Amino acid sequence: MSAEKIDAQNFKGGKKISNNLFGLFFEDINYSADGGLYAELVQNRSFEYNPTERKEWNPFSFWEYIAPGYSYGRISVETSAPIHPDNPHYLVLDVEHVGKEVKYVGISGVGIKNSGFENMVVKSNEKYNFSMFVRQLGKDPVSFNISLQTPKGKVLAESKISTSSNNWTKYTASLIPAQNNDTANLVILATTEGKFAIDVVSLFPEKTFKNRLNGMRADLAQVLADMKPRFIRFPGGCLTHGDGLGNMYRWKNTIGPVEQRKEQRNIWGYHQTTGLGYFEYFRFCEDIGAKPLPVLPAGVSCQNSGGTWRIGGTGQKALPMDEMQEYIQEILDLIEWANGPVTSAWGAKRASAGHPAPFNLEYVGIGNEDKITPEFEERFKMIFDAIKAKHPEITVVGTVGPGQDGDDFTKGWELADKLKIPVVDEHYYVQPEWFMANLHRYDKYPRSSSKVYLGEYASWGNKMKNAIAEAAYLTRIECNGDVVHMASYAPLLAKKGFTQWTTDLIFFDNLNILLTPNYYVQKMFSANQGDIYFDKVISKNENDSTLAASCVQDSKSGDIILKMVNYGNASKTMKINLYKFGKTAWEAEQIVLTGSPDAENTFGKTNRIVPTSSVIKIGRTFDYPAPPMSLTVVRIETKN
Ligand code: AHR
Repeated sequence: MSAEKIDAQNFKGGKKISNNLFGLFFEDINYSADGGLYAELVQNRSFEYNPTERKEWNPFSFWEYIAPGYSYGRISVETSAPIHPDNPHYLVLDVEHVGKEVKYVGISGVGIKNSGFENMVVKSNEKYNFSMFVRQLGKDPVSFNISLQTPKGKVLAESKISTSSNNWTKYTASLIPAQNNDTANLVILATTEGKFAIDVVSLFPEKTFKNRLNGMRADLAQVLADMKPRFIRFPGGCLTHGDGLGNMYRWKNTIGPVEQRKEQRNIWGYHQTTGLGYFEYFRFCEDIGAKPLPVLPAGVSCQNSGGTWRIGGTGQKALPMDEMQEYIQEILDLIEWANGPVTSAWGAKRASAGHPAPFNLEYVGIGNEDKITPEFEERFKMIFDAIKAKHPEITVVGTVGPGQDGDDFTKGWELADKLKIPVVDEHYYVQPEWFMANLHRYDKYPRSSSKVYLGEYASWGNKMKNAIAEAAYLTRIECNGDVVHMASYAPLLAKKGFTQWTTDLIFFDNLNILLTPNYYVQKMFSANQGDIYFDKVISKNENDSTLAASCVQDSKSGDIILKMVNYGNASKTMKINLYKFGKTAWEAEQIVLTGSPDAENTFGKTNRIVPTSSVIKIGRTFDYPAPPMSLTVVRIETKN
């Protein structure tokens, strides 16, 4: 059956396509979570950093011992009676002497200072919520001065806390800086003598996205919400299947009180607190109206574990068979945690985290571009069969390797056909020329096999030519929205100076956000999705391979959405005919993204390339001169 097959009766000559087509893929790569989207300002808050992550790291990394005012004491990292066995390290401070010398101007005491993720950005008159766990080790209470300070020691905000228990107890304080500062540090000073243990030292802006506790950085979360994604895939990527079996992302380690979560090495060479864990991912999806798509390992680790990509990717490890039943149960438990009633064991845990209503999980991804070995196939089938048997309502998303073709791609598709996997996840990172040469890739896909989730793709670059090649490809994804069920660009976020993957959708530092032309393309598609595709509404020179276009209708609003792409270097006219839609508005919203092929946004100039919006007059038929190197979206209301 051809991609252009239309169902004239139901859709006025249009073709039903997926209404979950454009979404996001969030992976904790490039410091996307800790130091990024997760709004925690303290780095290494639980003293769990260690040399397996970076050889120079240890439990005291990003902390500094301080003893101002001629004070002195002793410090050690201990593990004997932690807050929770999954959070084993904590700091012990023995304050031997707090100086009272008259000549010292400032706060005397013994304590620690945290420099955050390259310092902390704080804003004047905004509230910052501080908390720490302390266990008094002597009989007397310990008093603390908590402050935000500039690197030169100027106090921006301060508060006081006194301990009251010999058990681990959480103490909180509010800090409201009197002025803006981009290089603040958090200082905790014991101002009385005594010995104590301290752990999980945290500082969050009160203004997180939607003011959530343990929430997301508001400005970053907002640019994601602005895209109006239909789904979010998380937490990876390679982060999911992990660098060896012990590094697999296990969802149960990432829920519950943060002080009880299991922190771990990030496959991308840093540390993950899991403070941004499954509860937060699901809550964020709900907050922005996106469907959650968690991806779980298929019982095997990354084939590149231990850096074996250098010797041909032979590092896949498989869970022993006698651990598989327990592992499968872990996956079934996730479905119960997300959707089960509060009376179920896992539904009760969701409720106790503050979310009694189900999260309405519909999709579960199993595996991430794994090597399709017999070990993988055996484990995938066991998991797939178990989900199908217990939760036939869940759509399983399988995986077909790391490239647009090749051995794993072929074997992955063979497995998909054999098992009748509903959706499979394709990944490819290729040049813009590849996208332009392969616009018709999905026209040829059989309509009765598994649907495609294009879970990771990008052309190598963040210039206009990259973004517009991707836009051209997306018009064909819309046209093939009956076989391509979902699509998400990758990677999503990247912190300036901390990137492991150079081409990304959104760059940021502690203060600024850089939206790439690729971001605007994604947003223009994602915020303008339809569920019926129409052929022949836009006419263009079919022999000109630099032109692409699509027309969809959103059946909820009735709006018709035109997308027109010109990858060439001269303006080209397209002709639009809206007659089949009956009465349409005489004005429409038009958004245009255009620029020279090599133009890009930079931290020095973040708005070199931005889309422009306007209201244009239109008729039932009209001509559109598509500017060179451009994507145009026109949204037209219908009046039937
Ligand atoms: O998106 C970056 C990485 O690319 C993902 O972790 C992995 O799935 C792919 O190889």
